[in-house]
Amino acid sequence: MEQELDDFFQRHPQYKNAYDRFSQEGRLGRLLQCSAATVYEMHGEELGPIADEILKFVAVHYPPDFMETYFARVNALRELQKRFDKNPSSKTLGDPSAHVERSAYDLALLLSIVFTNHRFEIMQQLRAFLGNLAGATGAIAAVGAGTGYEIKLIHDELPNWIIEGYDTDQEARNTATTLLRHFGVTRRILLSEEFPLKAPPPKFRNHYDAIVLCELLEHLAHPREALETVRECLQPGGRAFVTMAINIAQEDHVFLYPDIVSCRRQVKSAGLMIVSEWLTPHTIYQLPSDREPGFSKGNYLAILSR
Ligand SMILES: C[S@@+](CC[C@H](N)C(=O)[O-])C[C@H]1O[C@@H](n2cnc3c(N)ncnc32)[C@H](O)[C@@H]1O
Repeated sequence: MEQELDDFFQRHPQYKNAYDRFSQEGRLGRLLQCSAATVYEMHGEELGPIADEILKFVAVHYPPDFMETYFARVNALRELQKRFDKNPSSKTLGDPSAHVERSAYDLALLLSIVFTNHRFEIMQQLRAFLGNLAGATGAIAAVGAGTGYEIKLIHDELPNWIIEGYDTDQEARNTATTLLRHFGVTRRILLSEEFPLKAPPPKFRNHYDAIVLCELLEHLAHPREALETVRECLQPGGRAFVTMAINIAQEDHVFLYPDIVSCRRQVKSAGLMIVSEWLTPHTIYQLPSDREPGFSKGNYLAILSR
């Protein structure tokens, strides 16, 4: 595998540069190297083009010390996770008093796609979901769209669909605009602040063929209500792609999912049906084929129908 990784590095020098840069960061750097190597070991060359496009975007649009910023962000999240792991509760899940620079937040959202397996697989599963959507045209909304990378995926997979992206953070919407321009997206895409996750007005009801809530629900005080809204806003036959973070601490996480059962229960109590599921544990090591036994920390992904 070492030879294969070396060959991969030859073909993707920006990834190698980042990997080598990790070695300057002591133990955390070694963990990140292990994490990056695992993404390659799990997904092989599929990682290559995604790593190239994300690292190129980051190199163009962030200051040259972006790797330092990424380390600092990873470190802050590790400290938060340690605090949570010592005393798991809704109170230790987030830290509303912490100030996080939005550019560092977005940078980490992007780089984690190519350096951590769970983020890589979330985007991989999202791409598969989009690829399987029926219908040459339709309407899709991504709520909590962050950097806009998922809107780019939607744009690539669903060329003739009407795409709407929502994020409450203005800087995130700016990043999304920059990212979409960088990737040559010229189609008009509505980027807006607020998707009505509670009591949607009539024009939103029964309107969407697909809705994406990627790494959003744990940010909401009332995620079940949001899922009920998703059900109301989907057309008959429509599908939603959702993720739920189980026992993952982050400054802006407010809703604790303690296990897989709580995720399934919430989906069902919102009146949605589970079409398929996927688990992406937070780990830097290779994963067993059956991921459910012993799963304690990571993301629950599901495709839902009404
Ligand atoms: C962890 S990020 C995920 C971003 C993106 N979906 C991804 O996976 O890369 C969560 C995003 O949800 C946004 N957000 C939080 N509450 C929201 C709400 N009520 N409506 C829309 N966006 C929201 C945040 O600003 C942030 O960009």
